[in-house]
Amino acid sequence: MRLDFLKDRIDALKRERLLRVVRDRESPQGRTIKIAGRELINFSSNDYLGLANHPSVVAAAKDALERYGAGSGASRLLSGGTELHRELEETLAAFKSTEAALVFNSGYAANTGMLSAIADSDTTIFSDELNHASIIDGCRLSRAETVVYPHRDMDTLHRLIKKRRKRVLIVTDTVFSMDGDIAPLKDILEIAEEYDALVYIDDAHGTGVLGGGRGALHHFGLSPEPFLLQMGTLSKALGSMGAFVAGERIVVEWAINTVRSLIFSTALPAHVLAASKEAVRIVMNDTTLVKRLWNNRDILYTELKQLGLDTGMSQTPIIPILMNSNEEVLRLSAFLFERGIYVPAVRRPAVKQPRLRISVSAVHTREDLLRLVDVLKEAKQCGLC
Ligand SMILES: Cc1ncc(COP(=O)(O)O)c(C=O)c1O
Repeated sequence: MRLDFLKDRIDALKRERLLRVVRDRESPQGRTIKIAGRELINFSSNDYLGLANHPSVVAAAKDALERYGAGSGASRLLSGGTELHRELEETLAAFKSTEAALVFNSGYAANTGMLSAIADSDTTIFSDELNHASIIDGCRLSRAETVVYPHRDMDTLHRLIKKRRKRVLIVTDTVFSMDGDIAPLKDILEIAEEYDALVYIDDAHGTGVLGGGRGALHHFGLSPEPFLLQMGTLSKALGSMGAFVAGERIVVEWAINTVRSLIFSTALPAHVLAASKEAVRIVMNDTTLVKRLWNNRDILYTELKQLGLDTGMSQTPIIPILMNSNEEVLRLSAFLFERGIYVPAVRRPAVKQPRLRISVSAVHTREDLLRLVDVLKEAKQCGLC
């Protein structure tokens, strides 16, 4: 049979405990989530501020849905875009203090499209070893020589960059999505200044989270530089869908003319843009939401540390619990599920070391956090972590 090779591969995944299935949820994702008829406390979502279900975000989307309909019909270059695209981009440029911004259909589309549009065979890309898969794929698509440097290792980056001959691009996540630690952006920008490098930061998990919500640059007290491109997602703390790149106007002009994931893909529908625009407005005006997120993160992190769990390098609301095997992490995730808590097990190829990936949100209650801690305590007594 022609498809037998797939069956063999799937069997191999099963043997290694790496086979995935997709689960349906029967509720909005938020503080809680309903799966298989069970209401669970949800620690799986990147909706860090609970904006996906915020009443004014939903109202803005509904209004745009009424006005513009469900779909956009074509690529933005064929007039699939609306005035809401432009308005959101103006809002995002103000949010990130840049000249301009450009919206993409997803973070994946932004990274693969932008990196392959700004790097080519005359470029050397320096990429952190724990960068997101969409960055890795963008580097591959660009056909640039890519040098992977050890995670957050600035001495090695410095040493490697000294030897470069071509145009240089440094690319890094700001918050690493599976470890929750933060890139040393100050050092990276200094190295870039010294060697005339371009810098591309993926602020997917920094936007709405770091720097009072404005992202990683604000967190470090850094200003946007002409040589810096800031990518952020609208799909995580901002609660809807899509992504953006913010920077100099010339970058946006180049992107509109060259980025294949933008040119050859149908534009996001207006209601998604309306939701994002309202979400950015909320983050810019309501500082309490981000504070609540960090307060929750600190409560949980302190408790997990006291329990003696291995939370790796976490510095943000992404808190991993590192485990030794796929078997162990699946068992622990199932144990939590049985007790009303949803925390996904993350395994290869997303990470080398299996882990539970806990995502804390501003909308979790103190009781939610302490319930998770209690169940983990019980799991520890049973020898599960
Ligand atoms: C660091 C990082 N970059 C990019 C993406 C892709 O974003 P999106 O889900 O909007 O495609 C993700 C998450 O999925 C991410 O964690």
